[in-house]
Formats: sequence, C-alpha cells, structure tokens
Amino acid sequence: MTDRVNGTERFTVVEVGPRDGLQNEKSVLPAATKIELIKRLAACGLPVVEATSFVSPKWVPQMADAHEVMAGLDLQSATRFPVLVPNLHGLDRARQAGAREIAVFTAASEQFSQRNTNCSIAESIERLKPVVEAAAADGIRARGYISCVLGCPYEGRISPAAVVRVAETLYAAGCTEISLGDTIGTGTAGAARKLVALAAGSIPMDKLAVHFHDTYGQALANILACIEVGIRIVDSSVAGLGGCPYAPGASGNVATEDVVYMLQGLGFDCGIDLSQLALTGGWISSVLGRDNNSRAGRALAMYKE
Ligand code: HMG
Ligand code: MG
Repeated sequence: MTDRVNGTERFTVVEVGPRDGLQNEKSVLPAATKIELIKRLAACGLPVVEATSFVSPKWVPQMADAHEVMAGLDLQSATRFPVLVPNLHGLDRARQAGAREIAVFTAASEQFSQRNTNCSIAESIERLKPVVEAAAADGIRARGYISCVLGCPYEGRISPAAVVRVAETLYAAGCTEISLGDTIGTGTAGAARKLVALAAGSIPMDKLAVHFHDTYGQALANILACIEVGIRIVDSSVAGLGGCPYAPGASGNVATEDVVYMLQGLGFDCGIDLSQLALTGGWISSVLGRDNNSRAGRALAMYKE
C-alpha cells in the first residue's frame, strides 16, 4: 500500500465517491466536473480515488464517459486511480484509457448478482477470473468487491460462511485486496466484527477492506468495530455520496469526512487534509443540488462561517 502515513500506524482510506457516488446520482455530471472532483480529492491527500467504471453504459449510463474522465487525470501521479471493470470488454476499455489498477465485483447473494450483473455468483466469478489474470499479466492490480456481505435487498440475511467462501475464491483468483461491501447498510457492529474475524481466518487482514453504506446510520460504529479486530483499509465517499443502482433503498457510502475525523481522533494519520476535504464535500453537494450527507463536513463548514 502506498498510503501517506507519517509516523503513526498505516491506514488507507479508499475514496469511492466519483464511482460509487456518481453512478447513483440522477443528474449526470459533465466529465469536466467529475475530473475536477477527482483532482480535488487527490489534492486533499487521499491516496486512492476510485475514478470511474467501465461497465455497460446501458446498465449504468452515469459512467458512460469513463474514458474521457481518465483522460483528464494525471495517471502517473502518486495518487492511485482504480476503475471498476465487470468483464474482459471492460478491461480492454480500462487499459486503453491507461488504468493501472482495476476492481472487479461479485456478490454474496444470488439475487443481487443477477440484478447487478445479469448472472449467478458462480458465473460472475468465472467471468472475472480471466479479467484478473489478464490484468495481472499487464502488471495491473485487481481489487475484488463482494456485495451484500451483511444483508441483501432481495434475500435478507446472508451467511457469513458464504461470504468468506466468495472472498477466498477471489483471493485465490489473484485479487490483491478484498473489499467487503455492506451494500444496503443493514450491518451492525457485532455482525461486521464477526464477519471480518471469520474472513481473516483465511485471508490476511491487511488484504481486507470494508465498504459500508450508511442507510441505517451504523457505518461509523461498524468501521470502529472492524478497526478493533484489525482492519486498516476503509472505503468511503466524500459527502456520503452514493448507493447502488441495483440496490433499492440503499443510501450513500459512509462519508469520507466523517471517517477521517474519527480516524484522526483514534490517532491514525492518513495524510488527509480534513478542512480541504470538507470544502470539497460542500462543493460537490452544491454542484449536485443535494444535501451534504457528511455530519463532520457540515459541522466544519458551520464553524468556518
Ligand atoms: P449483459 O447485458 O448481461 O451483458 O450485462 P452483455 O455482454 O450481453 O452486454 C450487453 C451490452 O452491453 C452489449 O451491447 C455489450 O457490448 C455492452 P450491445 O451489443 O447490446 O450494444 N457491454 C459493455 N459496454 C461497455 N463496457 C463493458 C460492457 N460489457 C458489455 N464493460 C454486465 C452484463 C456485467 C456487462 C452488466 O450487467 C453491467 O455492466 N453491470 C454493471 C452494473 C454496475 O455497474 N453496478 C454498480 C457497480 S457494483 C456496486 O456499486 C457495488 C460496490 O460498490 C460494492 C457494494 O457497495 O456492495 C462495488
Ligand atoms: Mg458500494
């Protein structure tokens, strides 16, 4: 991990707002605004900013401009700009756009897998294996996402053992990091802690990340519980942007500003400028004409006035 830690324990915040956030916004931003957002996030010191996705534009029209977005970024800079890829066609597009890191995705729920990728979990894994392999041959790292690890909008409860089986398969397929996604934000601290502890039985803790949506307001508590069992990689989204177009009712990701505020309080130094981040969250919320879902971001803006 190339995170920017000065002296204290390593912690990586993976910013997913430009992808997970903007894929779910009704208003489609111009590519130039997306580029501006990504550049501002990188300038805040975020080490990893998931920039876009090379999925089917028929499925997610908000990400149809992925190539243009990548063309506006300095892909040689120290900031990592991974992109989401569903299949070999997506990998080809990502390579042409200069991506140096990708993320593939599957689910722990059959029904969610069908709705999100039009195939079963097993089929999605068979589809992503050659993607990870071809990426690795080009020196491109692949993160693996698993959705619905703590609940599914269609199936309800998901067995932790089933999640871990999928995680093991992704890790064995060559994914360099596994992100456990609470897609609909129904997870609780107890369940999150147990799941991470179980997953860490077969996957090294430093290869595990957690990805919480905040529908039930549990995300920060869940992250803290996961940190207590050893997690040091957390996904989050500036201003709490986000959701999943195929997870009805799911709210945005936990806000990056709130996560960074908590991490600083815990003594982790992630090298992120929280004031700049709060300004960026306020800016993108006003561009989108929506409420800023970061409590810390709103409070910091208030104290400035
Ligand atoms: P499909 O319809 O079964 O596949 O979709 P297909 O191969 O028949 O393709 C349909 C059309 O899309 C074809 O075009 C393909 O060429 C085109 P047509 O012939 O009809 O003109 N196509 C593509 N175009 C551009 N780039 C591509 C691509 N692939 C096919 N890569 C597929 C299957 C997987 C492609 C589709 O279901 C898909 O793109 N799904 C993506 C859904 C998505 O992006 N969901 C949100 C991201 S996941 C998420 O948010 C969860 C996460 O945040 C973690 C969490 O919170 O849980 C990661
Ligand atoms: Mg997500």
